[in-house]
Amino acid sequence: MDSLHTPISLTPHAIKVLLVDDQEFIGKTVKKMLDSESDIAFYHCMDSRRAIHMVNKIHPTVILQDLIMPHFDGLTLVRLYRMNSVARHIPLIVLSAREEAKVKADAFALGANDYIVKLPDKLELIARIRYHSQSYINRLQRDEAFRKAQIETERREREAAEKHAEKLRAEMLSREMTIQKEFIDVFIQSIVTAIDEKSPYTGGHVKRVVDISMMLAHAINKCADEPFHQITFSSEELEEIRLAAWLHDVGKITTPDHVINKATRLETIFDRIHLIETRFKLIEKNIELDWIKSSQHDNQPKDDHIQQLETILSELREDMAFLKACNMADHFITEQDTARIRHIAEKTYDLEGNPQSYLYDDEVHHLCIQKGTLSPSERKIIQNHADLTLKLLEHLPFPNSLSRVPEFAGGHHETLNGSGYPQGLNEDQIPIQTRIITIADIFEALTARDRPYKKPMTISKAIEILEDMKEDNMLDSHIVELFIESQLCMEYGLKCLLPEQLE
Ligand SMILES: [Fe+2]
Ligand SMILES: [Fe+2]
Repeated sequence: MDSLHTPISLTPHAIKVLLVDDQEFIGKTVKKMLDSESDIAFYHCMDSRRAIHMVNKIHPTVILQDLIMPHFDGLTLVRLYRMNSVARHIPLIVLSAREEAKVKADAFALGANDYIVKLPDKLELIARIRYHSQSYINRLQRDEAFRKAQIETERREREAAEKHAEKLRAEMLSREMTIQKEFIDVFIQSIVTAIDEKSPYTGGHVKRVVDISMMLAHAINKCADEPFHQITFSSEELEEIRLAAWLHDVGKITTPDHVINKATRLETIFDRIHLIETRFKLIEKNIELDWIKSSQHDNQPKDDHIQQLETILSELREDMAFLKACNMADHFITEQDTARIRHIAEKTYDLEGNPQSYLYDDEVHHLCIQKGTLSPSERKIIQNHADLTLKLLEHLPFPNSLSRVPEFAGGHHETLNGSGYPQGLNEDQIPIQTRIITIADIFEALTARDRPYKKPMTISKAIEILEDMKEDNMLDSHIVELFIESQLCMEYGLKCLLPEQLE
C-alpha cells in the first residue's frame, strides 16, 4: 500500500472528492478525515437527484457513492454516472454498510472501481482516494497530452499542407508568368521583326541592338572601375533594358517605307532619276530634230554643224551623268554642285509647243540635299518615330518592374548635349539604360552591312565616329570607352560582321 501514500505533485485541492450520501453524519465524518489533507477538496451531496448535476458542476476526481438512498439508490446512480459524458470516466468508490458479496459484485458489474465498507479507516480511505484520483488525473493528463499532440500534429500537417499549397500556387504563378512573359516576348519580337522587315535593308537591326545593349549592360555589371563599380543591374533591370531595346524603334510602325528605305536623293516610291533619264532622252531627240531642221536651211559647213550637235549632246549627257552622281547617297553635294543643278534646271526644252524646265522644283530640292538622301521634311518624318515610340509605349500597362521601358526606349535618339530628339533632353535627364541603347543603336546602324545608302563600315571607322560623338558630348564617354576597351565591339564584330569589317 506504500504506493498509495506516495504524495503526487498536485496543485492545492487538485483532488476533488464528491460524497453522495443522504446521511449528514457520514458527510461530516468523511470531511473530518480529509480535512488534514491540503490537496483534497471535499464536496457532499445528500440528495441523490442532484448527484449528476453536482458531478457536472464540480468535476470531481473521485466519487464516493452510498448505496441506500431515497429517490435514486446507489446502484442506479452508478449506472447513470457511466452513461454521463462527464462522469463516465470518474473513479467511483462505493461506500456502503452492506458487505454482501452479491452487492459488491453488482456494483463492480455496473462500473464501480472500488468498494469500501463504511465507515472505513482514515488512512485507507485517503489512500484509496489518492490512488483512484491519481489514476484519473494521470489519465486526464495523458488524454490532454494526447489531445495537445494531436492538435500539434494537425497544426503541423495543416502548416505543411498550406506550405505545399503555397509552393504549388507560387510554382503555378511562376509558370503562368513565364508563359505570359514568353508570350509577350514572342509577341513583341514578332511585331518588332515585322516593323524591321518593312525595310529589306534594316531587317535584324533591332535584334542586333538588343544584343549589343545586353552585352554592354552585362559588361557594366562586371566592371569594377569607376563609375560602374557602383552599378549592378538586377535581373529585373536587365529585363527592362532588354525589352526597351526590343521596342526602341516600335514607332517606325507608321513611318512610310519609302522614307525608311530611301536609298537615293530622288527616291520616293521609286527612283525618279529614271524619269529624268527618260526626259533627257526626249530632250536629246528634240535637239536632234531641231538640228535636222536647222541643217536643211543652214549654209554652215556640214562638219561644223555636226560638231555643234555633238557638243550639245555631249553636254546633255554630261549633265545627266552629273545628276545621276548627285542622286547617290554617298555623294556630298557641294555649293558648286548646287549651282550646277540649278543651272541645269533653268534650261528648257519644247514639249508640244510649251517650254518645260529640264528639272522640276521638287527634283532640284532633293538633288540639292547636302548630305544623305533625306530632305529636312523626310528627316522629320523619320525622327518622328522616336516620339511615337514614347507615346505608344507610355500607353501600355507595363508591370512595375518594367515601368521605365517607355522612357528608356523613347529616349534612344536623345544626346547628352541636348541636341537629340524627340524631347531634347540634357545629360541629367538621360538614364544610363537609355545611353546604352543609344550607343548600341548607333554602332549597329554604322556597321550594318545591309543599308542601301552606304557601304558596310569597318569597326575602326565606326569607333572613330562614336569617339567623335563622345567628344561632342553626344554619347556617354564611359560607356563608349568600356565598349571599345573591353573589346565588346570586336566580340560583336566577330559574331555579326563581315571579315573585312573587322579592322
Ligand atoms: Fe531609332
Ligand atoms: Fe534603331
